[in-house]
Amino acid sequence: MGSTPTSNLIFMKKILITGANGQLGKEFRDLAVKFPDCEFLFLSREDLPIHHFELVRNIFNSFNPDFCINCAAYTAVDKAEQEKELAFLVNAESVGVLAAVSHLHKTKFIHISTDYVYDGLATVPYTEDAITGPQSVYGLSKKMGEAEAVKNNPESVIIRTSWVYSRHGNNFVKTMIRLMNEKESISVVSDQHGTPSWAADIASAIMQIINSRIWIPGIFNFSNDGETTWYDFANDIKRLIGSKCIVNSIPTSSYPTPAKRPQYSVLNKEKIISAYHVKLRDWRESLGSCIEGL
Ligand SMILES: NC(=O)c1ccc[n+]([C@@H]2O[C@H](COP(=O)([O-])OP(=O)(O)OC[C@H]3O[C@@H](n4cnc5c(N)ncnc54)[C@H](OP(=O)(O)O)[C@@H]3O)[C@@H](O)[C@H]2O)c1
Repeated sequence: MGSTPTSNLIFMKKILITGANGQLGKEFRDLAVKFPDCEFLFLSREDLPIHHFELVRNIFNSFNPDFCINCAAYTAVDKAEQEKELAFLVNAESVGVLAAVSHLHKTKFIHISTDYVYDGLATVPYTEDAITGPQSVYGLSKKMGEAEAVKNNPESVIIRTSWVYSRHGNNFVKTMIRLMNEKESISVVSDQHGTPSWAADIASAIMQIINSRIWIPGIFNFSNDGETTWYDFANDIKRLIGSKCIVNSIPTSSYPTPAKRPQYSVLNKEKIISAYHVKLRDWRESLGSCIEGL
């Protein structure tokens, strides 16, 4: 009797996605069809609250993933100033448990962090080894999450990203489109500098890392290419949707928020480009693609 030719055997990569109903999680859902050699398990907060450590262990025991991409996070930046304990539980302690369980199962752990770990005082793009200085509870909880990931699983890959938007969920782009359709004029902060990141591009970059034949642990910055301000970002959204709404420029001091944001958080992406050959798209080009798909 003939045996199955080995060339027909496909090694299916098993990928666990936590926080699967968030902006980034949903981009992975959209992207999954392009990767028939990957078996994805998408778990939302309801399916797997990552702060229920016993559930986390049970999922790893039953699914035994090759990769775990942690898209779950407490992301209510302003509310975190009041809900400190919850922010630390989800963004730090739970990340430590996910990292430790991944380590035990030899699962490659990919965690997402933020530009809010930086102090915002720089004038040139932040490298991964620049001194951090979170200005908010959220930023500090994410910084502690990075440390927990590395401590519990030194093989972790951590992606620091910034100004995330998507066709899914709530974000700056969708808020601007709504406001521009509702109002004759709006005011947007023009003295915070950073780079938008289309969540679809973050998901693609992570799939490129997974599909590369190498695994280089560490912290990697990733955003789209270029830099802008929220004000210029809003103006580009206005241009792309052909809105007549007047966009006024205001300083941060005229728009006080409970949590302080970095004044400058442009990320230097040389490390991820050289390690994983990730290609960056210009932020305007990605914004156009996202808005086209809305
Ligand atoms: N958004 C940004 O501008 C930005 C910027 C830089 C970095 N990041 C980072 O990028 C990553 C993805 O962000 P995102 O924009 O996709 O955030 P998001 O849309 O808020 O998604 C986060 C998801 O995590 C879920 N979640 C919250 N607590 C949980 C828990 N205890 N257990 C399991 N799931 C939980 C949320 O569920 P519910 O919706 O049910 O609450 C939500 O679906 C996060 O690590 C974030 O810190 C985001």
